[in-house]
Amino acid sequence: MDKFVIEGPTPLQGTIPISGSKNAALPLMAAAILGDSPTTITNVPKLRDIYTFNNVIRVTGCRVDFDEDEGVLTIDPKNLTHYEAPYELVRKMRASFYMLGALLGKYGEAKVSLPGGCAWGPRPVDLHLDGMREMGADIKLNEGYVIASAPEELDGGTFTLEPSSVGATVNLVLAAVLRAKEFTIKNAAKEPDVVLLCKKLTEMGADIDGIGTRTLTIRKVDSLQGITARNASDRIETGTFMIAAAMHPQSNVTLTNVDVDDLGHFPEIFRETGADITINDSTIHIKAPKQINPTSIKTKVYPGFPTDLQAQWATMMTQANGTSKVTDTIYDDRFSYVPELVRLGADIDVNKNTAHIEGKTELKGASVMSTDLRASVSLVLAGMVAKGKTDVLRIYHLDRGYEDLEEKLTTVGARITRTQQEE
Ligand code: UD1
Repeated sequence: MDKFVIEGPTPLQGTIPISGSKNAALPLMAAAILGDSPTTITNVPKLRDIYTFNNVIRVTGCRVDFDEDEGVLTIDPKNLTHYEAPYELVRKMRASFYMLGALLGKYGEAKVSLPGGCAWGPRPVDLHLDGMREMGADIKLNEGYVIASAPEELDGGTFTLEPSSVGATVNLVLAAVLRAKEFTIKNAAKEPDVVLLCKKLTEMGADIDGIGTRTLTIRKVDSLQGITARNASDRIETGTFMIAAAMHPQSNVTLTNVDVDDLGHFPEIFRETGADITINDSTIHIKAPKQINPTSIKTKVYPGFPTDLQAQWATMMTQANGTSKVTDTIYDDRFSYVPELVRLGADIDVNKNTAHIEGKTELKGASVMSTDLRASVSLVLAGMVAKGKTDVLRIYHLDRGYEDLEEKLTTVGARITRTQQEE
């Protein structure tokens, strides 16, 4: 197992290119299975979750070729013969559950392992299953697997997502495009990842109304064709580096290859910290504030503040000039990073789904443990402003979702090395 050794504090100065988005790529990869010919996706990051999903897709017989240097992934669904996503792979990555919608949609049959819990508590899939039942599919649970089947045409219907869910919207769209006469999803997610999926499915030949709104109506088409699709740039990586750039008063960072229209309200909330940002086409320039204004946030569905950036935000607020609150309304229990930040010297109390943060605290290097993807990156952010040496253990979480993290940060001045973690 690897760990990061970080020497701080260091200002960040220079340019960081943003990678393709993991969360946007996965639905596009699942959609590729629905085509009758190969689909090529560009701007795909080299990340463990992408390799895992490649293997999930390969189990079905589809051919997957990934040119890692170019970030180009081609999926040829021609030899799809096996309608299963096994537990050994689904347990590694929840989004493998997208195979349920994709396989049910394409072949009318699927056997997909239930994903189980995750590091921050239960993450149910009831809406995915109830939505497919509403569509008319037969859904059974057996020995940890979902067994789904559907005839050539399903009547469809209307299903309301409460709460709105990215994963359920993706799965229901994938299941419906080739099979449901007319299916309406109310309170659908309109995160950029969902919008991109729907647009690309439309290019493949799908009939989807309401793209980018909370109501999606899907009408079955007979077949879909493969396309070439550019994957979005990672909006969470963008937000993470914006936060990194604000945390040291001498930092001055330019982010390139950014999809600025995918950031929702984040840039305007970010400006409240006092950071100076300039946005030009696909470039964002960030100049750190002399002092960070304490800025409270609440996570919301898009275009609100993303839950995937709350841990990083709370970390930045340990360096703010006063008290702030971070409330997660999407996941109540996503604060496993707090005790680790406290080990570095942060003053944070968690009450229900709100972290109360007293700034500014001087952070001092220590050994800390990654617990999940976004928690881990927060510890790296903290390590870069902490005095002395911070060891971030179990960084395999980071390799799931941040491409070349230490190279990117080292290039702009951070002192981070990856070494073997003694057991
Ligand atoms: C996706 C993202 C994840 C992000 C999350 C919220 C991917 C691979 N993952 O996860 O990084 O943190 O969106 O933006 O894109 N819910 C139910 N029943 C369900 C499904 C969801 O109650 O069947 C609830 C969840 O517990 C949560 C809320 O809905 O409270 C939103 O979750 P959802 O949008 O589904 O998250 P994911 O798609 O799993």
